[in-house]
Amino acid sequence: MIPQSFIEELKMNCDIESVVSSYVQLRKRGRISTGLCPFHSEKTGSFTVYPESQSFYCFGCGAGGDVIGFIRRIENLEYVEAIKFLAQRAGMNVPEDAAEDKTALLKTKILEMNREAARFYFSELTKPSGKAALDYLLGRGLEPKTIKHFGLGYAPNEWTRLTDLLASKGFRYEDMVAAQLSRKSEKSGRYYDVFRDRVMFPIIDLRGNVIGFGGRKMSGDGPKYYNSPDTPVFKKTKNLFALNFAKKQKLERLILCEGYMDVIAMHQAGFTEAVASLGTSLTSDQCRLASAYVEEAVLAYDSDEAGQKATKRAIGLLDEVGIRSKVLSIPDAKDPDEYIKKFGGARFKRLIEQSAGSVEYELSKIGAKYDTGTPEGKISALKDAVGLLAEMKNPLEREVWAAKLARDYGTTKEGILTQVQAKVKRRARAESARAINGTAQSNTFGGAVPEKLKNPASAAAEERLLGAVLRHPETLSTLSTALSPEDFVCELYGNFYRKLLSTLSTGFEISLTLFGEDFTLEQQGIIAKLSGLAREHQYSAEDAIEASKTILRLKERKSDQEIGELSGAELVEYIENIRKSKK
Ligand code: CTP
Ligand code: MN
Repeated sequence: MIPQSFIEELKMNCDIESVVSSYVQLRKRGRISTGLCPFHSEKTGSFTVYPESQSFYCFGCGAGGDVIGFIRRIENLEYVEAIKFLAQRAGMNVPEDAAEDKTALLKTKILEMNREAARFYFSELTKPSGKAALDYLLGRGLEPKTIKHFGLGYAPNEWTRLTDLLASKGFRYEDMVAAQLSRKSEKSGRYYDVFRDRVMFPIIDLRGNVIGFGGRKMSGDGPKYYNSPDTPVFKKTKNLFALNFAKKQKLERLILCEGYMDVIAMHQAGFTEAVASLGTSLTSDQCRLASAYVEEAVLAYDSDEAGQKATKRAIGLLDEVGIRSKVLSIPDAKDPDEYIKKFGGARFKRLIEQSAGSVEYELSKIGAKYDTGTPEGKISALKDAVGLLAEMKNPLEREVWAAKLARDYGTTKEGILTQVQAKVKRRARAESARAINGTAQSNTFGGAVPEKLKNPASAAAEERLLGAVLRHPETLSTLSTALSPEDFVCELYGNFYRKLLSTLSTGFEISLTLFGEDFTLEQQGIIAKLSGLAREHQYSAEDAIEASKTILRLKERKSDQEIGELSGAELVEYIENIRKSKK
């Protein structure tokens, strides 16, 4: 743990405007500065720096936070790494900490063990006992040099080979367990290998470290693939398999697919820009990682329904980090691996060249959804298409697609554009109405604040309260006696409030930095946005008190169903209470 006092001193020495200026060309606009957001691609400057609160917020993509959050995002660093990065910039020494030394040591040990393990698995392939595994890989069309390039291997069908090997090299059993290479038997107390009788795929990070493994069984029961669970050196949701190989070239795009074998087959066929999300559905961390290298991705997911769903989701996630998507459709094969095996690399190349942009993909889905032979079907499809065009920010792009739609549906481009315009206006009006009510982001926080949909009024009051407290920390001690984190409907907001309360006892300054350690970047973006809204609406100390009363009042409210279950007398009392609390 780095002491909070050091972090505060560090922030004093790292003015956010000057730090950001090293990455973004900023223009002064009164008390704020704006520029082009480095976290998504844009043509207008939605990226705003607030020197007064030492924070930033992008109105385009929702990225926000303090100077540490900025460095974490832009340099793709963990919290502590970002602090070290900034400390170096400011010429300050980070206080060393015994516990931290220990984790650093363990990390090094795990990486050493992983390297030993990868070597061991690889060498097992060439032994008689590994013949079935080698035949399996060759049978799947891999050439020996591909097997070597990816360092594929075989975990033998025995209980303690790797564990014994590591022990003989002086590694400790607890460390093998931390590396997720060995497990301890409850019964005998002995340690045994996690991976047995599986074909092994090492997962390698950008620095060339082996950080984990995937193991595929060749026969028998159990899951087809088993992946290393997270360890101190491996976070599955933050890595892209084979990015270490892909980034060795100047990248114009990445090809994103589901599986180990898809990636390997593609690399062998010459598509060395292929990476995979390691079987998890694509995460925003993985998208951000990709966005450091490319602005375009070709989505080459499986052709089944799950793959198509994943494709749709990926388009949205990639768009958020400024990556354009193209979608590959894979005819007559379930995935890229099978396609290349069946039809060869040259045909696959043609598929890639023909891959549709994401708009084209969406439009073809809309076309397939309705019977466009009938006037009714045509109208429904056009309605959906107009909705899609209305989401585009670039008017030129809208025109191009409107022209295509007009041709496809036998109508006029102008007619379509008029409808799109009307839809854009309606949306803008609805949005500004929401903004005035203080619930501008009713859907945007959806995933992080799921309670918001069902409880918009409470959520809005909680947002007002947090924003007002950030502006007027002196209200906090009054509030603390009346309102507790458990009174919050939205769990995340309750946690923000709990963190704020903790400053009362520690005496730390209230600022966005407070949220750096315990909250994710997305969550920090949310609190930064609430702070921005509070500034915009100039929330006062009274607003904080008023919002706390609203939160408590709404909490007393019962749902319709609960009301239905009250007896007559209870109902009268309940209504009386509401009346009283409203005064
Ligand atoms: N996966 C996993 N655990 C499973 C199944 C799949 O982690 N039990 C991950 C693996 O990374 C796998 C990817 O999801 O590569 C895609 O799974 P799937 O389509 O089922 O496998 P394929 O890639 O087709 O595997 P193979 O070609 O080896 O049969
Ligand atoms: Mn496959």
